[in-house]
Amino acid sequence: MNWPTPGDLRGLVLGVESSCDETAAAVVRDGRIVLSNVIATQHDLHAEYRGVVPEIASRAHAERIGAVIDMALNTAHVRAEDLRAVAVSAHPGLIGSLLVGVSAAKAVAWTLGLPVIGVDHVRAHLYAGFLERPAGPAAPIPLDNRLFPALGLVVSGGHSSIYRLNSPLSIELLGSTRDDAVGEAYDKAAAVLGLPYPGGPEIDRFAALGDERRFDLPIARLEHGSLDFSFSGLKTALLYTVHGVPSERGRGGTPALTLDQQTLHDLCAGFQRAAVEAIMLRLDRALAQHPDCRTLLIGGGVSANSRLRSRCQEFAMAKALRPALPELQFCLDNAAMIAGLGSWVLAERRWQGDDLQRSASAQSPD
Ligand code: KG4
Ligand code: ZN
Repeated sequence: MNWPTPGDLRGLVLGVESSCDETAAAVVRDGRIVLSNVIATQHDLHAEYRGVVPEIASRAHAERIGAVIDMALNTAHVRAEDLRAVAVSAHPGLIGSLLVGVSAAKAVAWTLGLPVIGVDHVRAHLYAGFLERPAGPAAPIPLDNRLFPALGLVVSGGHSSIYRLNSPLSIELLGSTRDDAVGEAYDKAAAVLGLPYPGGPEIDRFAALGDERRFDLPIARLEHGSLDFSFSGLKTALLYTVHGVPSERGRGGTPALTLDQQTLHDLCAGFQRAAVEAIMLRLDRALAQHPDCRTLLIGGGVSANSRLRSRCQEFAMAKALRPALPELQFCLDNAAMIAGLGSWVLAERRWQGDDLQRSASAQSPD
């Protein structure tokens, strides 16, 4: 593919995200510099159902999206007239939720006479490691073609997948989950353990206090060479460990556990070890199959996990890969990653000779 010059990516892009239970808007400059990143989470609305209720999610997005976009523009200290485009998370996601963001993005773009760009939410997660803040903590990774090909891992409530990337826009799926996504497994494990929703952050916190070897929970292994994931066995093993197994025809059986504080911490540590090491096995195998990869990109809510982050750092160091781990605020669903990747889609349209002056009403997100 063509590689964009800094000039191709120059300018301000407004990003809009509403694919699941986060209503978000952000302004990103030059494809990377995040001037604002506003996220209105709905976790409190869905907590009692222990999962996202689509009707509640879309109604909450509709109520909040206007204020969230206004706040993103105000905190970025930019004028709407200075924007170059509006990028919106267009797929995959909950259809009613996506529609709210897409409609809002189109309305803003139409009012300002700007192009509207549909962005793939999962691909955008892989771009999150390239985002910077104006006064960011670390020296930014120069985003050029020497970083590619790259190995990409998306781990969230809806996805567990490994990719090979030849650029931020050129992506090949290598493997994905055959059952639960890893974030979903964390959330279900939290339910078994009586922890609040979403469960990932709670299990991560308690895991640090526990003994990961007390409960030998299984690290899923699939057939030789497969890069797919499976987390349902781990979830079931945790369930049986906690609730016990009745004896059958005079054989075995295990009693239910008493969930005292230390046992809870040990279970969290055992679960976290099994979940993260299963991911690391796949990454190791993927690199063996794609030894020309130079960079490790991770994204999605579970990329905020402390063990996964440190294991990815170690893995990258051992394999001479460059790690691009997103800042925590860019791991969960956010609109900065949408605006950032949107700048690339805009540049690509220009190379393809697309007329960017077409009004938003004439364009639909891909
Ligand atoms: O990417 P995201 O915000 O939304 C989806 O697209 O799904 O990811 C949310 C998921 C939830 O399942 C949540 O439990 C998980 O990310 N999560 C974590 C951590 N923080 C969030 N899982 C493990 N450890 C964490 N620290
Ligand atoms: Zn996501």
